[in-house]
Amino acid sequence: MNFTGKTVLVTGAASGIGNACAKGFAEAGATVILTDINEAAGNAAAAEIKGSQFIKLDVTSRDSAEAVAAQITAEGGKLDVLVNAAGWDIIEPFMNNTPEYWDKIMAINFMGPVQLTRALLPLLIESGSGRIVNVSSDAGRVGSFGETVYAGAKGGIIAFTKSLAREMTRKNIRVNCICPGPTDTPLFASQSEKMQEALKNAIPMKRVAKPSEVADGVLFFASDRSSFVTGQVLSVSGGLTMVD
Ligand code: NAI
Repeated sequence: MNFTGKTVLVTGAASGIGNACAKGFAEAGATVILTDINEAAGNAAAAEIKGSQFIKLDVTSRDSAEAVAAQITAEGGKLDVLVNAAGWDIIEPFMNNTPEYWDKIMAINFMGPVQLTRALLPLLIESGSGRIVNVSSDAGRVGSFGETVYAGAKGGIIAFTKSLAREMTRKNIRVNCICPGPTDTPLFASQSEKMQEALKNAIPMKRVAKPSEVADGVLFFASDRSSFVTGQVLSVSGGLTMVD
């Protein structure tokens, strides 16, 4: 896959899967715009990727999303690929959830991609062949114990992907979705050892994903290798879920 001449914006690029995506696109020749709410980690991540740029972005803020679009435009830049990878979760029983927790889950995992996508669509349309890859979760396909509202948000991202894909064919934009299973990132490490072991054992391939393996799926959807694919969902989860 070759992304020479393409500009790719990745959210959540300071860590885990988003960071692996940023590195993968850069290795494939793209100019990468890393974005994240964590400025220090984002700047450090960008420093490791030659020719890349870091822009601070809080995906829960519409102003922040619009400011990123305005900055790219003001700098005379363009955008070919958007990867919505930023996400957040804490596992706990639904009965223990507070309304504040629900709001945070929905703001980061659902409304974040929605409002950033809207802010960046004019640039993606202008590119003539824009691509959007959303990072959802297998939780959004099959549910997940202790991740009830997160699963709802991620299921929403799948439906958002499909509907936007239908609307955007007329603009020559493809929209697809990756569903990681348990992946070796700081988010996964924040779960208890017991939970991590239980998840590993439930995976037919008996290990969690490397972030780069999830990034490979993202690069596929963003590349010409998937030129006739839109509105699709790909699980990268070692066989944890096998959905028709
Ligand atoms: P991570 O915690 O390693 O990285 C997430 C990044 O998102 C962090 O750099 C964080 O600063 C950033 N972020 C959080 N809130 C933000 C906000 N409001 N605005 C902008 N950036 C923000 O997590 P990981 O594991 O790399 O997750 C990436 C995506 O993959 C997420 O959407 C997550 O839901 C999804 N996922 C992860 C799985 C896993 O096992 N690690 C499994 C299934 C899905």
